[in-house]
Amino acid sequence: MAAQSTSLPNGVVLRWRGPLSDAEMTDLVASYGGTAVPEWWDTIRPHSFGWVTARAADDVLVGFVNIVTDGGDHAFLIDTKTRGAFQRRGIATGVVAFAAEHARAAGCEWLHVDFDDELRAFYLEACAFEPTAAGLIHLRPSQAPA
Ligand SMILES: CC(C)(COP(=O)(O)OP(=O)(O)OC[C@H]1O[C@@H](n2cnc3c(N)ncnc32)[C@H](O)[C@@H]1OP(=O)(O)O)[C@@H](O)C(=O)NCCC(=O)NCCS
Repeated sequence: MAAQSTSLPNGVVLRWRGPLSDAEMTDLVASYGGTAVPEWWDTIRPHSFGWVTARAADDVLVGFVNIVTDGGDHAFLIDTKTRGAFQRRGIATGVVAFAAEHARAAGCEWLHVDFDDELRAFYLEACAFEPTAAGLIHLRPSQAPA
C-alpha cells in the first residue's frame, strides 16, 4: 500500500486525496497566470480517482495533479499544476511520481498523459514517461481549449 503522505527534500508535503478547497484551486491557477474557473474543482472532484496536493510549510497549496481511471488497467494523469513562485524546484516531478505510486498501488498497469510539445522535457525526461503515439479530437472546436 502506498503512503498517504510524503515530503520532498525541500520540505513540501505531498498528500494523496488531501483536503483541497475550490478557492485554493482557483488561487493556484491564478498564481501562474492561468484562467481560474470558480467551482471547477468542486465539479471535477466527484469524478476523480485521486489527486495529490503539495503544500509548503505555511500550508499554502503549491502543487496539484489529478488522476482518473477506467477502473481497470488504465490511469490518466491530468491538470498538473505548480504555483508560479514555486516552479522549477522539482515539485511537479515529485507530485507526478507520488500520483504514479498510488495508481500502481491501485492495480493500474498503464499511466497515460498528453501534453503540449513545450512540456516534453518535463513529462519525458523529468517524469520518465515513454513517448508513444496518441490521438486527440477537439469535441468543441468552436471554443478555445481549456
Ligand atoms: C508544467 C508545470 C506543472 C511544471 O511544474 P514544476 O514544479 O515547475 O516542474 P519541475 O520543477 O518538477 O520540473 C522538472 C523539469 O521539467 C522541465 N520543465 C518543467 N517545467 C517546464 C517548462 N515550463 N518548460 C520546459 N521544461 C520544463 C525542466 O527540465 C525541469 O527541470 P529544471 O528546472 O532543472 O530545468 C508548471 O510549469 C505549471 O504548473 N505550468 C502551468 C500549468 C500547466 O501548463 N500544466 C501542464 C498541464 S499538461
